[in-house]
Amino acid sequence: MSAHLVLVGLMGAGKSEVGRECAARLGRQWVDTDELAVAIAGRPFTSVWSDGEAVFRGFERQAIADAVAAPEPLVISCGGGAVLDPENRRRLRAAGTVVWLRARPETLAARVGSGEGRPLLAGDPLAALRRLTELRGPAYEAAAHVVVDTDDRTIGEVVDEVVRHCDATARAK
Ligand code: S3P
Repeated sequence: MSAHLVLVGLMGAGKSEVGRECAARLGRQWVDTDELAVAIAGRPFTSVWSDGEAVFRGFERQAIADAVAAPEPLVISCGGGAVLDPENRRRLRAAGTVVWLRARPETLAARVGSGEGRPLLAGDPLAALRRLTELRGPAYEAAAHVVVDTDDRTIGEVVDEVVRHCDATARAK
């Protein structure tokens, strides 16, 4: 199986922007598991989510299985909750280098703004991100090979570090 570069972390961690830029630098294709899940479902995110979070998680699980099965090495940005499922964690870790883009809740809240399009942040995004940071910390830790802190850093700086880790892992194999 290919050695994918996998980005995990909470909403606002920069998984999409960093993922796109890493893919450009590495000459790889970029995939986003939210986009893949919606494509598999064949209907918009809001429609899938309105059937219940568990329905979305089922499509997300399929999206992850499909992404890691790609024969060429990809950059895979995962939805923030993907790592909660132990099977997803196992698959992602086995598929390449998993990087946790970590940030303080205040940083994440500043990046997501009103949290539009993210139902788990409805109401008070900062309070929700504080709670999710507590709840999910152990799952990100269990999923990740590498942690990259993104507070007070530009996308370019974060990408430099992620690509360095990716190269180092590839050399070690
Ligand atoms: C979620 C994060 C979202 C999306 C859904 C649930 C989560 O993806 O999968 O709203 O549980 O953290 P992003 O992290 O790409 O915003």
